[in-house]
Amino acid sequence: MKVPVLTAVTDARWEAGLVQAFENGDHGVAVVRRCVDLADLLATAAAGTARAVLLSADLRRLDREALARLAVAGVAVIGVGDRERLDRLGVLHVVAAVAEPAGIANAVIAAVAAVAVTALPPRAERPAEEPEGTGHVVAVWGPTGAPGRTTFAVTLATELAGLGVTTTLVDADVYGGAVAQTLGLLDEAPGLAAAVRLATNGLLDRAALAELARAVTENLRVLTGITRADRWPELRPNGVAEVLALCRGLTAFTVVDCGFGLEQDEELSYDQTAARRNGATLTAIDAADTVVAVGSADPVSLQRLVRGLADLPAVAPEVVVNRVRNGVMPGNPETEIAAALKRYAGVEPRAFLPYDRVSADEATMRGLSLTESAPRSPLRQAIRAYAGRLAGVEVRR
Ligand SMILES: Nc1ncnc2c1ncn2[C@@H]1O[C@H](COP(=O)(O)OP(=O)(O)O)[C@@H](O)[C@H]1O
Ligand SMILES: [Mg+2]
Repeated sequence: MKVPVLTAVTDARWEAGLVQAFENGDHGVAVVRRCVDLADLLATAAAGTARAVLLSADLRRLDREALARLAVAGVAVIGVGDRERLDRLGVLHVVAAVAEPAGIANAVIAAVAAVAVTALPPRAERPAEEPEGTGHVVAVWGPTGAPGRTTFAVTLATELAGLGVTTTLVDADVYGGAVAQTLGLLDEAPGLAAAVRLATNGLLDRAALAELARAVTENLRVLTGITRADRWPELRPNGVAEVLALCRGLTAFTVVDCGFGLEQDEELSYDQTAARRNGATLTAIDAADTVVAVGSADPVSLQRLVRGLADLPAVAPEVVVNRVRNGVMPGNPETEIAAALKRYAGVEPRAFLPYDRVSADEATMRGLSLTESAPRSPLRQAIRAYAGRLAGVEVRR
């Protein structure tokens, strides 16, 4: 069988000549569709009929995000033309437009083979369905403005683990993960993106997940996030849902750092990319048993929190107010913040976390959790108390 390949090139004459040459010659490659533009290409690639694409360097709107989506679709990319630009985009396989059809066909076959190194066994060999686990999933969300989602998620996970509760910490921030760095895990682990890739191919089972969610302490596993924000298409919502479902069978708790965006209506959203991008966030929120909304204590952040809560598709989110300090509001900050949240969002905060710059900075600098670097800090103590309540474990001070 010939390798089915797509073309998305700007030189129609070159394209027509190549299609002819592939048809007439015995090169092992056949053009199954000539895509008119990038949108056409992405849609065709997602449909799964082709194994590779011959792509012009100067195709309109071609960027890393598009290439990531082709990678997710399992379509090998062979660039044609400007080698420097293709290099910058990270395209590994490049052919010159003047190359012979046989040489181009060989490049296609080599590129497909490189993708197939991570090849998938046929459906029959895929793992059988496993029974759903009973683990509890906590999604940690918060509005834009860095209110402390990652700090809270990481510390909650390390505290749960410290209380003897097995926990998986998942970095699902589609705007670029920070969990690995926060915990000083500097090597690039495959993490969540790899788990999602296996899941979308029907290959993820509990054992494979256990390998990707590496154990960092006795009770704590970490599924690291995407290291570059432009890799977000790899966090496909369906795959994320499956990963989280399997996490329930791996550990008693799963804590997901979700990032911030919530826009979902592609019709109404001004930013269609954001709408699609937030699919993973919304999936995690939807899958969670507990949704935590982290906000920061100052007036601007509280207003963002109130607006965010209105859009948050969760029944009873647990509001956690971070960076609480005197002077941020007139009067007693906790009383004032509670009153404001009651009035504008109809919610009562579950926890107030104190502002603790020194401990937070030191933890970040050392690449350690607050649990390790500042066990006595009031910030750590407050998150520990929250963890104890969540897990139903008594916490001694
Ligand atoms: N309670 C706190 N007091 C002081 N600094 C904090 C507190 N919580 C978080 N930070 C700091 O604020 C910054 C942003 O926190 P982070 O958890 O990364 O936010 P997000 O994940 O919401 O973007 C980090 O430098 C972190 O150390
Ligand atoms: Mg973060």
